[in-house]
Amino acid sequence: MSDSPKKATITLDDKTIDLPILSPTAGPDVVDIRKLYGQANVFTYDPGYTSTASCQSTITFIDGDKGELLHRGYPIDQLAEKSHFLEVCYLLLYGELPTADQLEWFESTITRHTMLHEQMQYFFRGFRRDSHPMATMVGVVGAMSAFYHDSTDITDVRHREIASHRLIAKMPTIAAWAYKYSIGQPFVYPRNDLSFAANFIHMCFSVPAEPYEVDPIIARAMDRIFTLHADHEQNASTSTVRLASSSGANPFACIAAGIACLWGPAHGGANQACLEMLREIGTPDRIPEFIARAKDKNDPFRLMGFGHRVYKNFDPRAKVMKQSADEVLDLLGVHDNPVLQTAKELEKLALEDPYFAEKKLYPNVDFYSGIILDALGFPTSMFTPIFALARTVGWISQWKEQLADPEHKIGRPRQLYIGEPFRDYVDIEKR
Ligand code: CMC
Repeated sequence: MSDSPKKATITLDDKTIDLPILSPTAGPDVVDIRKLYGQANVFTYDPGYTSTASCQSTITFIDGDKGELLHRGYPIDQLAEKSHFLEVCYLLLYGELPTADQLEWFESTITRHTMLHEQMQYFFRGFRRDSHPMATMVGVVGAMSAFYHDSTDITDVRHREIASHRLIAKMPTIAAWAYKYSIGQPFVYPRNDLSFAANFIHMCFSVPAEPYEVDPIIARAMDRIFTLHADHEQNASTSTVRLASSSGANPFACIAAGIACLWGPAHGGANQACLEMLREIGTPDRIPEFIARAKDKNDPFRLMGFGHRVYKNFDPRAKVMKQSADEVLDLLGVHDNPVLQTAKELEKLALEDPYFAEKKLYPNVDFYSGIILDALGFPTSMFTPIFALARTVGWISQWKEQLADPEHKIGRPRQLYIGEPFRDYVDIEKR
């Protein structure tokens, strides 16, 4: 951000107020309205924050018109192709790609934090077996603040660092155990000789009764899915983490809040909803019926995995995901997958339809991810937990950045009050 001589001027009745304009390193200029209320006694109104920058950040940049996503300046397609998840985690957390030594240190640090406090098993066991794994994750991650007292002091840099490593490292164990519990199988402990992605696959799909070899194709596909979900600037769950943190809450409580927000079908829950929708459509001949429903103002149905607040062009993650879906299914020997065929045909027909073209609705990250996760063997209920475990590094990086930002303060939006003005209490016999 740099000071710019540009300014915006607003006129209210006979009063003129100059507002500074801040220039970012990329993206549109930002009108600084912080002093507006003090100077002019007015608020701005922006439900859903469609025109409001809530913070300054150096982590992720999206150009929605171009369909570009950069982490610390590096484009997501290059990271998905050439990097891997833990390297991207380092990049997000520390700002630069690691050297070989830094990467080795980071990987061994994360690996050494993968186990959960043994007592936490009893916490899992308190849930109903049919709990959605996201429900279990919200609870267990929130409960981490009751188990790791040596990393909850947000004023201590070392505490913040340990909490960051713990959350990135333990989230796969938590997600895998939420899944194992839901299917009545024993918890599988993490294996530190495996890569981050392979270890997660192992914890999800192995059983103590027999040896299990992680298929490297599956581990690579898993790692790419993690990479594509690592961060996405100030989306709803990240903003939730930042808002929770702004009060000084501990990191585990903040990330639990982020997980809760991610669960909704307009956000991370869309991957589960999208595969369920594709299965419901079933065959390409039923697509026009669903497109008609999505366009019908009187029908609440929306095409899941379509549309985005920021992207008004292809979501670059969806492009990589679509290519990955083809590759992974091919490598796994799954040919003519009917859900993938339906998805491709739906994408084609929707993009040809003026409704979607005019509203600039394109496939987003959730459109093809479920097809890959399904091919890897995950039930739909695990799709959003996988999103959550991958997004944890984004949440944590943004949380750390916020705490280090001298301009950060408690988040406290104002409102446009449209209720009753002052009135006197009416005794019950007079109502
Ligand atoms: N199907 C049909 N119409 C849609 C869709 C859709 N998927 N998405 C938006 N529209 C229409 C909407 O009805 C509205 O029309 P109008 O202007 O006539 O009222 C217009 O497009 C703008 O929609 P909006 O709801 O004002 O846009 P938004 O920026 O508030 O919402 C969204 C963005 C992602 C919530 C929305 O596109 C949506 O609900 N998509 C389906 C759910 C989904 O795939 N979510 C995953 C998002 S990407 C991953 C993530 O963030 O977790």
